[in-house]
Amino acid sequence: MKMFTRIFCWLLGIGAGLHFLFGMVAMFSPDQLALVIGLERMEFSYVWLGNLGMLIIPLTLMSLPVMCDPQRYRVYGWLITFGRLLQGIYWYRVAQNSVNAIFKPFGTLWLTIGISQAIILIFFAETEVRFSGENVKAVLAEWKASRQNLNKYLKWFGWVAAAGMIFNFVWVFQALFTPMALKFPIGTQALFQSTTWLGIAAIVLFSVTLLYLPSAAATQQYFTYDWLIVLSRAVAAVFWFTVWRQPYHGGFLLYMISDGTFGIVLFFLLQKGAPDNARISAENIDRVFANISNEISMQGSSKWARGFAAVLVVIGMTIGGISWYYFIRAVPDLQYGDDADHYKYASVGLSGAARVPYYLFDVLPDMFPELMPDPKKGYAGFGLIFEKGHSVPVGFAYREIGYAAVEPNCAMCHTGSVRLAANSDPVVVPGAPAHELDLEGFQWFLYNCATSPKFSAERVMDAVEKKHPLGFLDDFMYRNVIMPAAQAALVEQRSDYLWQMHNRPWQGRGRTDTFNTTKLAVLKFPDDGTIGTTDLPQTWNQAVRRDMWLHWDANNNKIEQRNYAAAMAVGATPFSVIPAAFQRTTDFLWYLHPPKFPLPIDAAKAAQGKVVFEQNCATCHSFSKRVPSTTDGQHGKGVGEPCDDAKLGTDRHRWASFDQQLVDAFHQIAEAPFYFPAYTKWDNYANVPLDGIWARGPYLHHGAVPSLWDLLQSPDKRPKQFYRGYNLLDPVNVGFVSQGPDAQKEGWLYNTAEAGNDNSGHLYGTTLSDADKWAVIEFLKTDDPELTGRTPGDDAKLPKPPQAAAAGTPY
Ligand code: HEC
Ligand code: HEC
Repeated sequence: MKMFTRIFCWLLGIGAGLHFLFGMVAMFSPDQLALVIGLERMEFSYVWLGNLGMLIIPLTLMSLPVMCDPQRYRVYGWLITFGRLLQGIYWYRVAQNSVNAIFKPFGTLWLTIGISQAIILIFFAETEVRFSGENVKAVLAEWKASRQNLNKYLKWFGWVAAAGMIFNFVWVFQALFTPMALKFPIGTQALFQSTTWLGIAAIVLFSVTLLYLPSAAATQQYFTYDWLIVLSRAVAAVFWFTVWRQPYHGGFLLYMISDGTFGIVLFFLLQKGAPDNARISAENIDRVFANISNEISMQGSSKWARGFAAVLVVIGMTIGGISWYYFIRAVPDLQYGDDADHYKYASVGLSGAARVPYYLFDVLPDMFPELMPDPKKGYAGFGLIFEKGHSVPVGFAYREIGYAAVEPNCAMCHTGSVRLAANSDPVVVPGAPAHELDLEGFQWFLYNCATSPKFSAERVMDAVEKKHPLGFLDDFMYRNVIMPAAQAALVEQRSDYLWQMHNRPWQGRGRTDTFNTTKLAVLKFPDDGTIGTTDLPQTWNQAVRRDMWLHWDANNNKIEQRNYAAAMAVGATPFSVIPAAFQRTTDFLWYLHPPKFPLPIDAAKAAQGKVVFEQNCATCHSFSKRVPSTTDGQHGKGVGEPCDDAKLGTDRHRWASFDQQLVDAFHQIAEAPFYFPAYTKWDNYANVPLDGIWARGPYLHHGAVPSLWDLLQSPDKRPKQFYRGYNLLDPVNVGFVSQGPDAQKEGWLYNTAEAGNDNSGHLYGTTLSDADKWAVIEFLKTDDPELTGRTPGDDAKLPKPPQAAAAGTPY
């Protein structure tokens, strides 16, 4: 064989190997891919990513025979080259949108391989292998000749294969140019957002289908490929079978049937029509395997070629082994005996894109004190809570998936601390709002570190080595791969969160913007400028909340969906969620009692307050007055339902930020266990339950009012500015201390004049006498069943928590 032809074969093989690797990752471990390209570029396209991976299997197999016999199978060499060029062009087109620039290397890779192959085929390959007019004519002549004595089975095989080509091409055309046309039979959910991956799946399907052509035209010329076509249909049918079994993916049954039918028909025609030596039989299978093992051991190749191949294999295995060790190898997660510890420190399973290398997390405060609000406090300066005996703050899980990393969990935003005296130790309250947490400050600390000119993998690693001496390979990998990748990931995340810096007031301690992240970073909606900043809520006592319309604006009445929506928002994917760990966390919250008020309560005053409550507050806030809706998708009256009072009058920003467009988008998401069919837009905020309200200050959905006493004043008497984030309890006014030097030192100044921070509205009780106001405040400190929906010792009477939606069971 001529040297150039050999190079051509190597290119075919290398391309096939890379393709195969990519396909396997796309199909079986898309989160690993997300690590490289960013989670939001997965576009909820797991079906099409899987489809792509599945298509790559036959495409890879179909590259092998040409590799071994480039002359006999020259037409395949030409077609595969054409397919690779198309893929390169496709990725370049995708990368033209600057958001997707990350795909450019994909384009460069396939164009480099494709163009090199094409140049060899046109100019340098052996005369017989070249892509030239003469050879094309020769091939056509061979095809014609081979059709002369076709038996009827093989003739039919050709026709059916050709029909399959047309079938595939129609699909490819639709996927590329009118994707919504695929709505039948699969529904719009699987098409949601899927432009990139649907497109590349179409291009690869096109490439595979082109390789059907020779078999369709000259079936007895290419028996190997005839069988590979049968195999490709079989693989597809199996793949669609697994997709079809997922909830909301019933429409894929038709895909399974069509691929399956083509596969079965082609199989029988071929098995009937092929000569003895090309049929499926024990002998032939043995022969094929013998041939394959001959090819693999490269009998008959030169020493050089064998040496080269051996070197490639060794390099490949070394890189594979190291990649596995540093990126895939999962050390079992830490287990906690205590449910509360599990809630605070265990991973619920976020994807790699939401993890920060532990060593990096550990050294950043030392390296960038100037970017911290209070360098002496380290991360605690952002309001993160540290407990003795833990190397990470509450709300973070330490994990080793390859490298050691930290990732947040539910407790980051849903665990607070309270102290009863300025000099006493704080008590950590699981399920309480993380009212001290400056989430935005913490995020931007990480982003600012990553974009600082002072940041380099070298400097980071020098700092790491001082605290944690590492071995040679560890150091090498961290320095050259993991830290640079972590930096790139933070820079990338920063761009996803830039909207926070555009005309939106600082969120401040204990608050975050709930839905704009999803709208802008995940769903890529254009920025509508809305401000969705809310107070972090509590997460206890979920059993009594299960079917309530909650979230601040009452947008969802299913606790499973609220839980999974939270998981998705912090970076879990359908693949990354750890069902058992997630279930343990949500079971914990299901039963978790609201915390008892930690100081004595005046029972007589509370009893008096209960009367005031019944008269003024109960229609909206009492569990015993709730009238749930009996019609699915409608709402009832009272607690846990959207508020009926059009004059509620609290700030409307958060309400407006969650809009119908987002509802529609949520309804489209359908990837087990993520389904959100219950999202609904109502016209008011929710009448929230008031359990454990003493630990939930500041009050209202945006935390605009520091204490219960202030909430019972008319808005002109409520503080215009106050500090929030100090954890000293104000047991009289009820809430946290929000004025004075300590509150100023520990807290963040809330200014009601800023957009989204208005403190008017909710005038209920504001005209009561002071005595009645104090009485109702006393009552709100209690855990009366009116407030909590619970009676002492009722755990066994509560309904059992829903089981994690195992794949296949929609809820
Ligand atoms: C980044 C902070 C953050 C993290 C982490 C977080 N949440 Fe939340 N959670 C919020 C915010 C903010 C809301 C209020 C949303 C709204 O209504 O605007 C909320 C609301 C909720 C609610 C509804 C509360 C109610 O009664 O209205 C539940 C339940 C919940 N989260 C559960 C979870 C679970 C489970 C996790 C872990 C998988 C989690 N959250 C992680 C910020 C967070
Ligand atoms: C007409 C219905 C209605 C009545 C009556 C009513 N509330 Fe509310 N309440 C609401 C709604 C709706 C919210 C949430 C508003 C928001 O966050 O913007 C709320 C919020 C609150 C909050 C803040 C909850 C939190 O987590 O921050 C407290 C405290 C509260 N109400 C106490 C009272 C008291 C005390 C009374 C009686 C004096 C009362 N409410 C009467 C509808 C009502």
